[in-house]
Amino acid sequence: MIRYLTFALNCYPTMAIRLVSQTRGVLSKMGGTQTATGNLVFAVNGERFELPTIDPSTTLLEFLRSHTPFKSVKLSCGEGGCGACVALLSKYDPVLDKVEDFTVSSCLTLLCSVNRCSITTSEGLGNSRNGFHAIHKRFTGFHASQCGYCTPGMCVSLFGALVNAEKTNRLEPPPPFSKLTVFEAEKAVAGNICRCTGYRPIADACKSLAADVDIEDLGLNSFWRKEHSKEEKISKLPVYDRNDEVCTFPEFLKMEIRSGISFDSKRYNWYTPASVEELQNLLNFDEGTGTKIVVSNTGMGYYKELEPYDRYIDLKHIPELSMLRIDQTGVEIGAAVTISKIIETLKNENQHEFRPTDRIILQKLANHMEKIATGFIRSTASVGGNLVMAQRKYFPSDIAAILLAVDSTVDIMSGHQFKKITLEEFLEGPPLDSNSILISVKIPNWASVGKLSPENNTTLLFETYRASPRPLGNALPYLNAAFLAEVSPTKTSDGVLVNHCQMAFGAYGTKHAIRARTIEKFLTGKLLSSDVLYKAIKLVRAAVVPEDGTANPAYRSSLAAGFLFEFFSSLIDSGTEISNGFSNGYTSTSLFKHSKPVQNNNQHYPNKIPTMLSSGKQVLQLSKSYNPVGEPITKSGAAIQASGEAVYVDDIPSPVNCLHGAFIYSRKPLAWVKSIKLNQKPFPDGVAAVISSKDIPDHGKNVGSRTGFGAEPLFADDQTHCAGQRVALVVADTQKLADMAANSAVVSYGMENLEPPILSVEEAVKRSSFFDVPPFFRGKPVGDISKGMDEADNKIVSAEIRLGSQYYFYMETQTALAIADEDNCIVVYSSVQCPEYAHGVIAKCLGVPAHNVRVITRRVGGGFGGKAMHAMPIATACALAAQKLQRPVRMYLNRKTDMIVTGGRHPMKITYTVGFKSDGKITALQLEILIDAGIAIDVSPIIVPNVLNGLKKYDWGALSFDIKLCKTNSTSKSAMRAPGEVQGSYIAEAIIERVASTLSLEVDSVRNVNLHTYNSLKSFYEGSAGEPVEYTLPSIWDQLAVSSSFNQRIEMMNEFNRRNKWKKRGISRVPIVHEVLLRPTPGKVSILNDGSVVVEVGGIELGQGLWTKVKQMVAYALSLIQCNGDGDLLDKVRVIQADTLSLIQGGLTAGSTTSESSCEVVRLCCNILVERLTTLKEKLQKQTGNVQWETLISKISGVHAKCEPISEFLLYP
Ligand SMILES: Cc1cc2nc3c(=O)[nH]c(=O)nc-3n(C[C@H](O)[C@H](O)[C@H](O)COP(=O)(O)OP(=O)(O)OC[C@H]3O[C@@H](n4cnc5c(N)ncnc54)[C@H](O)[C@@H]3O)c2cc1C
Ligand code: FES
Ligand code: FES
Repeated sequence: MIRYLTFALNCYPTMAIRLVSQTRGVLSKMGGTQTATGNLVFAVNGERFELPTIDPSTTLLEFLRSHTPFKSVKLSCGEGGCGACVALLSKYDPVLDKVEDFTVSSCLTLLCSVNRCSITTSEGLGNSRNGFHAIHKRFTGFHASQCGYCTPGMCVSLFGALVNAEKTNRLEPPPPFSKLTVFEAEKAVAGNICRCTGYRPIADACKSLAADVDIEDLGLNSFWRKEHSKEEKISKLPVYDRNDEVCTFPEFLKMEIRSGISFDSKRYNWYTPASVEELQNLLNFDEGTGTKIVVSNTGMGYYKELEPYDRYIDLKHIPELSMLRIDQTGVEIGAAVTISKIIETLKNENQHEFRPTDRIILQKLANHMEKIATGFIRSTASVGGNLVMAQRKYFPSDIAAILLAVDSTVDIMSGHQFKKITLEEFLEGPPLDSNSILISVKIPNWASVGKLSPENNTTLLFETYRASPRPLGNALPYLNAAFLAEVSPTKTSDGVLVNHCQMAFGAYGTKHAIRARTIEKFLTGKLLSSDVLYKAIKLVRAAVVPEDGTANPAYRSSLAAGFLFEFFSSLIDSGTEISNGFSNGYTSTSLFKHSKPVQNNNQHYPNKIPTMLSSGKQVLQLSKSYNPVGEPITKSGAAIQASGEAVYVDDIPSPVNCLHGAFIYSRKPLAWVKSIKLNQKPFPDGVAAVISSKDIPDHGKNVGSRTGFGAEPLFADDQTHCAGQRVALVVADTQKLADMAANSAVVSYGMENLEPPILSVEEAVKRSSFFDVPPFFRGKPVGDISKGMDEADNKIVSAEIRLGSQYYFYMETQTALAIADEDNCIVVYSSVQCPEYAHGVIAKCLGVPAHNVRVITRRVGGGFGGKAMHAMPIATACALAAQKLQRPVRMYLNRKTDMIVTGGRHPMKITYTVGFKSDGKITALQLEILIDAGIAIDVSPIIVPNVLNGLKKYDWGALSFDIKLCKTNSTSKSAMRAPGEVQGSYIAEAIIERVASTLSLEVDSVRNVNLHTYNSLKSFYEGSAGEPVEYTLPSIWDQLAVSSSFNQRIEMMNEFNRRNKWKKRGISRVPIVHEVLLRPTPGKVSILNDGSVVVEVGGIELGQGLWTKVKQMVAYALSLIQCNGDGDLLDKVRVIQADTLSLIQGGLTAGSTTSESSCEVVRLCCNILVERLTTLKEKLQKQTGNVQWETLISKISGVHAKCEPISEFLLYP
């Protein structure tokens, strides 16, 4: 969940003292001697840190990344929404001598709150020097890390679950397993986002540690082969030894805590009141806006603070706010109690005087809370923080809705006054003022409430509901609800009477959760029937009305009706139409037959959590002919990616005097830029400069990116042409300061003599605002469209499809580091898919010869096309600022800026007319496609042929089209994951489905009848259709049907759909035809004196495994020399970072073929080397009989071969 939020944090100098360097909890000589200072003390990976001063707004992540060598915590969303920054936080209780371990999002955790705690990051689990942890090895071997940016966070999330499972008294599992269960292992990473790998390998890596895993269920890995027995497979898993596990809390810190370590928190403007009175005194001293009340600060994930605070008050140390009390009257929960603790308590409530039905209520509340955020948020997020956000800021809270339905009450402290009110009154009241504190919340015990009827044949039903983009893991609800009802069978009929009911709905685009009083009133006393339910649903639709501006209002209202229906429908007389015995997949019974209460279906599944993954098998057939090419070896660098040692651009330590940049971007689509001002003059402390187009040297050019079709300016000149256009760059001492300054900058705009901006493709057409598409990219129509239309029995005329844009969402946002070098040269480290292009743009912008610029790219934390053209302005802006200020400048875009300035996928409007026969055979398709290219041409012309190639996958009979590339006042759109082809394929399938539904035919039969024959393929893909034997689509299509038992599955699905009224299943197979374009790329293979091999290629490692494939190819191609002992060549090969002065013309890594081009070029290099070495090898062989690889190389003192890009582009069908 990423939202457009702003950053604003204080910035004070930070001093970290790493007093002792120690690992795994060995007692420090100095441990315990430093406690008198009252400094902030904590441990990271067993090392002691003591901070005499710190800005209280500093997060754990900021500290770790900028003041320690531990860079494995990655900043990706900065909002608690992705898991890239997860660290393990351990707390020690000296009384119980117990350590509590839980995961946290370090991007939200404030450093002052970790006093006396121990932090473990992925480096702390293991590393390349001391040996990797079993978790790292499993992630590596199960191919669970591609770009690797998410991997350290995943590993720590899994470690957190592992540590806690090991604390249970479950039976000791045999090695190499742990006490984790499969369910826990899978759930451990729920909420950790990966944008590359796909979750199956990740889940496999996690499950491989679980004692109850079915080893045959685990997918492709580098540990074992298919033919291995179960025992062999288990024996090949990397060792996990629980007796040698990482110590999460070092002994020295335990000793310091026992000896009474002090923390003079006030010195840090961080107040930790230990009683309500202390808190009152502190609040009395607040003079306005400068105080922030915090529990765990996770609210910052949703509401970024725009102003810095003078002081923080941490509520966690007040007993009244941290208690959790259960008695006959209910469950009372202190406001600072975490959601995890509440879940644990409610689930385990079994020894108190609660009736079983009341216990079910508590369990269902807990089940619902398990769907809130993620484990690493719930572990610290408090119920009070949640309810206050719901009350004050209208946050779409789950807790508010579900507690509202059970008549919860809250205790509030305002100044010196205390009051108890209902949660409903609290939510409906005016926003809580800054001096008021929520003390606790109480869930009543229903038995004690006295609302239930005295009759003993009643049943209490309770259910909670939630619809969100994902069932588990970080997705705010579209709607949530909770229903409580007391029902009883009637004496006179077979029906069910509603004695009492309470209903709450929330998060549907309302200020706060509501009690649906009109519906409660309507249903109370009613005998349930279809008619009654129908009327209640009408009332729900009237009550649940999203406010203006809410997304998908109709969907949300109908969801509310659906929830109500689901709750009551199975209670309705089984003779009625609704309850026909097959509701929702569970066979329902008549609920009150023979006066025997049977509860709502869902109540039989109190712990029902959606299944996460279904099992599957992956079987590969390998050929040894080109060994090791094609072998599923581990990804090059995967282990260091997992441990967090892999260095991404933002992990490179800052050079001395380094500055940080942040863009000021336009908020207007078309305007004059009159002035840019920061909020303090001339610059706030720590801000070094504001760089704009005026700072571009006279001999340079205002260019930020360039493609073969045209360039885009680095900064707006006098005029801005789209919202999100870069206007200037603020350069400051820290990234936080730069972001704050950029955010608060005031740009003054003027609108004089400007036309209105073009904000839609329709407007662009009206005003003829188009980019030219070169003839080569325009595509040709196929066949005679009029004839095709005449042949049709049916037509769909002028139907419309609209496709929106899409953000790249790489886990690593755009980043660069520029360092000015001697003689007007500059080195730029950039996370870019095309360093060569960035190099050219930087040279142009700075007005220096190309040989003055060097761009270096080692690895990219996910690109998906977004780090091709759109990475260049970041690299160029850093270079410009570094050259002007003669200081290193780096930049790491925050997620909000990245989303706003980085264009994304091309939106489109498609209007089509299609003619077809009664059997679904399409005879003609006519299309008008308007592509929104945004403000600059970028690579947009290639979208035209790509859309066409994607949609030509079916034989449309005749095809004609009119495609326009519209220039609009929005950010320029660029290539993104299968650019154009995704849209083309979507359009084709949308048309096929529309035809099928018009004819009431199975869509698979319409697909079938429109598949290409070789002849039609040839006419649609002129020049790239290949030979008839190469056209394999029809045979693959048939094969797929057989291998997947497609027809059998259809029968099963039909049967399921026949039996289930409310839940339906579907199945489909979809063909694609993809034109493969191989682009030339250079390569260089050097064999060093000791026989090790170093390789450079044009392609960039984006996570796709390019380096691994290249290594395999080099090992294979060099093995053709046939030396003895060349079997381990793979280990001798290292692929190194791209350096634009070392290997020129590296080109662009895109189009899914750069790995193949890079492999081919290194094969050619190796062929040259093998040819050169063969004569010597044969001579040596004659002399000594056999020749070792090292011996051969030692005779020649190293050799290298380089190949330039082959000059043509190759097209394959
Ligand atoms: C990624 C993410 C996903 C989430 N998903 C969900 C979800 O699906 N459903 C859901 O319900 N919630 C969700 N949340 C919200 C989460 O439950 C809250 O962040 C959390 O409850 C706030 O707790 P906290 O202890 O960190 O509060 P803090 O961030 O410390 O405080 C939040 C606010 O409340 C004030 N405050 C805190 N306690 C008190 C008090 N006792 N009295 C007065 N003021 C107080 C603070 O001053 C601050 O303004 C999500 C949060 C994140 C970050
Ligand atoms: S959760 Fe912290 S960076 Fe995403
Ligand atoms: S490997 Fe997970 S985000 Fe790239």
